[in-house]
Amino acid sequence: MKMSREVVVVCFGILLLVAGLPAQENNPTSSALALTPPMGWNSWNKFACNVSEDMIKGMADAMVKSGMKDAGYQYVNIDDCWQVSRDSNGNIVADPQRFPRGMKAVGDYIHSLGLKFGVYSDAGSKTCAGRPGGLGHEYQDALQYAAWGVDYLKYDWCNTTTQDAKASYANIRAALDASGRAIVLSICEWGTAKPWLWGKEVGGNLWRTTGDISDKWEGSTKWPDGICCSNGMLAIVDQQVGLASYAGPGHWNDPDMLEVGNGGMNDTEYRSHFSLWAILAAPLIAGNDLRSMRPEIHDILTNREVIAVDQDALGREGTRVAKSGDLEVWAKQLRDGSRAVVLLNRGGSEKEITVTWEDLGYPNHLSAAVRDLWQHKELGKFTGKFSASVESHAVVMVTVKP
Ligand code: GLA
Repeated sequence: MKMSREVVVVCFGILLLVAGLPAQENNPTSSALALTPPMGWNSWNKFACNVSEDMIKGMADAMVKSGMKDAGYQYVNIDDCWQVSRDSNGNIVADPQRFPRGMKAVGDYIHSLGLKFGVYSDAGSKTCAGRPGGLGHEYQDALQYAAWGVDYLKYDWCNTTTQDAKASYANIRAALDASGRAIVLSICEWGTAKPWLWGKEVGGNLWRTTGDISDKWEGSTKWPDGICCSNGMLAIVDQQVGLASYAGPGHWNDPDMLEVGNGGMNDTEYRSHFSLWAILAAPLIAGNDLRSMRPEIHDILTNREVIAVDQDALGREGTRVAKSGDLEVWAKQLRDGSRAVVLLNRGGSEKEITVTWEDLGYPNHLSAAVRDLWQHKELGKFTGKFSASVESHAVVMVTVKP
């Protein structure tokens, strides 16, 4: 039988469509992930390379027992140093001493608690701690992660020499999607190539905007090679100014993981740290030892009213709406039209800070209910402005609801 050219083209088209269907069904779209900023825990800030199956399982248990899971924390993420080599087929090999039952066993345990499992790798030849990186093994690694049940991949940027950042992250996203498993992609490029400009386009769900956080209130120290810095909490906050419009459901600016509870700041400062991360719609990835938290630290990390601001479904990142020396006002629009507000005192003595309705985009005559999110208390109705006395290094965090 002789077919016309048109018939051949149509048949070929139908064939392509049919062949493409299952792939499409299995293909998770990265934009449907992380519709609110990811919440979880990561090993790096407290444990660095000292990771093991026992420790990670203990942390997952603690996430449940402490009530953090109920408060919304989900991901248990192993950062650098779980990997030691590649085998003769190029498969990534987990440290057999530290993870004697392999990575799938760890993932299975985490999943058995109703939590999600995250791992770390690097776009270059080696991770920042010198372990094997993902370069040239992206598809192979993605399949391996999917087989282990990985739900979240943090992908670092060390040892990338002349690689193009956008292309490298697009490549790992394509590899993750091809694995058939929905995996959150956390771009850890430190902000050098302005990932907020292309992170969403390449399917990144969050992207680091700065160098690493360190457990201190302010300041930053250059690394010995002069390349990057270890940033105090406020140094990180300052670098978020101007980036808010790039964040939204499925794609978030990431000012790095939390240091709450790691000992370098006092509880007042940790409360400020947590409040600012919430107003920034930042991923809330705890970095302390959940197995031995003081009650004060537990109460910071599980403050549901503050978490609700971070997780608000509108997905707006807050902005600094007023600054006068050490006194700042940060505000975030919420889905119901109200505003979350942080009054931040960076200075050394107690001061009064005022937020005006104009700062919030409200008309002056509006009467609005103000609620304190740390005291868990209605403060009453206010018109035109709200003022509070704020201790040194503290915040007052409220919602303003017309
Ligand atoms: C980089 C990242 C950190 C951490 C370490 C691990 O510094 O920015 O968050 O993952 O690497 O080596």
